[in-house]
Amino acid sequence: MPLNHSEKISTTKRIAVIPGDGIGTEVTREAVKVLKAATSGRSAPLEFTEFDWGAERYLRDGTTLPAEAVAMLRRDYDAILFGAVGDPRVPSNKHAADILLGLRAKLDLYVNLRPAQLLDAALTPLRDRGTKDVNFVVLRENTEGLYAGIGGQFQRGTPHELAVQEDVNTRKGVERIIRYAFDYARQHNFGRVCMSDKSNVLTFGHDLWQRVFSQVKNEYSDIESRHLYIDTLVMEVVRDPGQFRVIVTCNLFGDILSDLAAQLAGGLGLAPSGNIHPGKISLFEPVHGSAPTIAGKNLANPAGAVLSSALMLDHLGLASQADAVRKAVRTAVREKHTTIDLGGTLGTREAGDWLAEYITKNPA
Ligand SMILES: NC(=O)c1ccc[n+]([C@@H]2O[C@H](COP(=O)([O-])OP(=O)(O)OC[C@H]3O[C@@H](n4cnc5c(N)ncnc54)[C@H](O)[C@@H]3O)[C@@H](O)[C@H]2O)c1
Repeated sequence: MPLNHSEKISTTKRIAVIPGDGIGTEVTREAVKVLKAATSGRSAPLEFTEFDWGAERYLRDGTTLPAEAVAMLRRDYDAILFGAVGDPRVPSNKHAADILLGLRAKLDLYVNLRPAQLLDAALTPLRDRGTKDVNFVVLRENTEGLYAGIGGQFQRGTPHELAVQEDVNTRKGVERIIRYAFDYARQHNFGRVCMSDKSNVLTFGHDLWQRVFSQVKNEYSDIESRHLYIDTLVMEVVRDPGQFRVIVTCNLFGDILSDLAAQLAGGLGLAPSGNIHPGKISLFEPVHGSAPTIAGKNLANPAGAVLSSALMLDHLGLASQADAVRKAVRTAVREKHTTIDLGGTLGTREAGDWLAEYITKNPA
C-alpha cells in the first residue's frame, strides 16, 4: 500500500548542516559523504540542508544566528550536524558565541555527551593500556553551572577590582543530567555510573548534586553507583581508566575532564560529541575547533566529525547505520587509512572517501 504524504515526511530524517568556519567546512563535508553512504539503502534517506552561519556571513552582513533560526530548526529538522566556529578575522568570537552557545542554550541541549573510546592501543599516551581500558563516556551538564553567565565586575581595571561569577545549580538541571546518566548506563549495558563533584568545598551548589544523586540512584538498583570528588576522579581516570563507564558531572568539570578523556582515547582528531535534549532536535559536532592554521589544506582529520555523525544516527534511531560508521572508523584507524595526525598519509577528502567506500562495501 503506498504511503500517504505525511507518513513519507515522518520517516525521512531532516538534517540541518552548519559547517561553520575553517576545517569545520572540510570535515563536515566528509561526514555528510559518509552519512550518505551509511543510509543509502534506506527507503527514506537523510535529507540535508546547509546553512552558511559562520564568520564569512557575519563579516558580510552582520548575521550570526538569525532571529528565526531556533524556531525553524525545531519545526523543520530532526538533528543538526555542526562543524566548528572560530576565525582569526573575528577576534571577539562574537559570531561563534551567538551561534554555538546560542543553539545549546536556546534548544536546551542539556546533555553534553563525550564518548572516550580508544580504537587502537597505539593512540593512547598511557603505558600498557589497550582498547578495553579506555571505554567510557563523560556526561557533562551543558546549560548551567559556572557557564550560566551570571556575575559582574566592580571597579574594573582599578586596583580594587572585584569579579564575581555565579555557579548556578538548579534541582531540575541537576536531576535531569543525573537521570540521563543512569538511563544511558542501562541502555548501553554500561552497568555503572560515577558522579563527580566538589561537594566538600562547594557546600551549597554541589550539596544539591549529592542529594539528587542519592535520591535518583535508588531508582536504578541494577546500576552500580559511585561518587568521587573531581580531584580524585582525574587521578583515577589516568591511573586506571578501565574502572569507569559513565561519568556524570557539572559543566565546568565536564569541560575539563572530557578533554583529558579525549587525549586518553587518541586525541582531538578523533573525539566526537553530542549536545542532546532527549527526544528533541539535538546538535552533533566534533570536539575540535576550526584549526585556522591547517584550514583549506586538506589536512584535517574528519574522524571526529564522522564519529559525531554516528552519535547523530543513534539519536535518530538508526543504530545499525551508526555501528557501520563506527566500524569503518575503527578499521581505518587500525589499518592506517587516516590523515597524518593518526599516522596515515591520506588527505581529509581521501580519508572521507575511504570511509564512505568501506561502508558501501560493508553496509549495516
Ligand atoms: N566547538 C567549536 O566550534 C570550537 C571548539 C574549540 C575551539 N574553537 C575555535 O577554533 C579556533 C581554533 O582554536 P584552537 O586552536 O584552540 O583549537 P582547535 O581544536 O581548532 O586546534 C587545536 C590543535 O589541534 C589541531 N587540530 C584540531 N582539529 C584537528 C583535526 N580534525 N585534524 C587534525 N588536527 C586538528 C589544530 O591544528 C591545532 O594544532 C578558535 O577560534 C576557537 O575559538 C571552536
